Amino acid sequence: MKTYKNLIGGKWVSSSKKTFESLNPATEKPIGKFQCGTVDDVNRAVSAAKKAFEKWKAVPAPKRGAILLHAAQLLRKNKEALARLLTQEMGKVLPEARGDVQEAIDAGEYMAGEGRRMFGYTTTSELPDKFAMTKRMPVGVYGLITPWNFPIAIPSWKIFPCLICGNTFVFKPASDTPLCAIKFIEILEKAGVPKGVMNMVTGSGRDVGTPLVKHKDVLGISFTGSRPVGEYIIKDAGVKKVGLELGGKNAIIVMNDADLNLALDGVIWGGYGTTGQRCTATSRVIVHEKIKKKFEKMLVSRIKRLRLGNGLHRSTDVGPLINKNAVGKTHKYTQIGKHEGAKLLYGGTIPKRKGFFYEPTLFTNTDPKMRIAQEEIFGPSICIISVRNIDDAIEVVNNVDYGLSSAIYTKDMREAFVAIENIEAGLTYVNSSTIGSEVHLPFGGMKKTGNGTREGGIEGIHEFSETKTIYIDYSGKLQKAQIDD
Ligand code: UN1
Repeated sequence: MKTYKNLIGGKWVSSSKKTFESLNPATEKPIGKFQCGTVDDVNRAVSAAKKAFEKWKAVPAPKRGAILLHAAQLLRKNKEALARLLTQEMGKVLPEARGDVQEAIDAGEYMAGEGRRMFGYTTTSELPDKFAMTKRMPVGVYGLITPWNFPIAIPSWKIFPCLICGNTFVFKPASDTPLCAIKFIEILEKAGVPKGVMNMVTGSGRDVGTPLVKHKDVLGISFTGSRPVGEYIIKDAGVKKVGLELGGKNAIIVMNDADLNLALDGVIWGGYGTTGQRCTATSRVIVHEKIKKKFEKMLVSRIKRLRLGNGLHRSTDVGPLINKNAVGKTHKYTQIGKHEGAKLLYGGTIPKRKGFFYEPTLFTNTDPKMRIAQEEIFGPSICIISVRNIDDAIEVVNNVDYGLSSAIYTKDMREAFVAIENIEAGLTYVNSSTIGSEVHLPFGGMKKTGNGTREGGIEGIHEFSETKTIYIDYSGKLQKAQIDD
């Protein structure tokens, strides 16, 4: 089995001599060995990134953009191979793995174009013969920490804007998907990102993540992952520019006038797509009481037809979970749901087969206060809550700590707009599922999903840059703002 290395200062190196394995979750077979990075690795990587920063920030942004565009082209050329690798390392079905890579291609193309925009604005001064404007500036060295559920797309949401803005970085990928991260970084190297600009250290949160977040020369952190880890990060980071995306408890509202077949497609896709392992996954279905019974029946008959299996096989609808712990966690929530008195309509078992599989699970008669209706499960488990009207529905949607994604199925314009106005979430979809964001629009959450930052689109540029305000006084005399008449 191949042993992979860390990238520090433009060289692939191994220093600790200790490694860990990444497993294929469908077969439980290892796919490679990876470095258990150390504090020393982090320190060396940060100083390489700091050194490279001076040169990289001086490269004109359109030239940086040309390198990014080349990277996007190479990703496209290697799309099928990357998607297959992604399925083997992470488990999602091949069409979704292709989508993951496509999202990275899209992000690369979009951010390459930003190299020729990178807009500030000009405005008026309150004083005569004085000019005022803003300009985007790089932050410096970034620490990028990513999850395993979108092992190519999520790194791309961070790496592309980070680079186009002129920053350098140290990247710590999730320990469940280091090979996808390495393949992505290799493509960026091939595209011409200079040595030292990108550094990658694999390993644990304790040995790599924490020292990276605390490092005094790391001025920006971007993290996508779980809430508990996010809370540590914000404490450890102190006064740094920090971007966080910490998950969701996303709901779909199905009103009584909705096109139920359309809503059914949305719930199945949102809840069981990627085996429920998306921050944006649908985990609560809030149905109008008049259509509850009918919709439950429709859901169960559809879930019965979902085929579990290896994501490489064309016949598979739902792949495995990422690891054994994830199976344990999903199953623990099934027990909790039963214990709390929710009614298990379907699933709730661990199939007896090789791989980290879990049966798609559906609860009903759920009280909005139950733990299965409040906590992020990150597995193929949905609970149904019934309500009497749109106002009740919105109250239930908002009655959680998280605020990432949401959706409403209705034909009633008023109800759709009431939902758009009142749901406390970073994303609201009308007549479409809770998943499926696009890279040129902002992505992120309200409330405890994050700290108010957004990735993607122009807001992604703001996340990875500073604003400088510039005043140019050409009056030739001392002018005093707020004091001169
Ligand atoms: C995530 O799960 O963190 O909207 C990201 C979606 C995808 C991104 C999900 N484009 O589901």
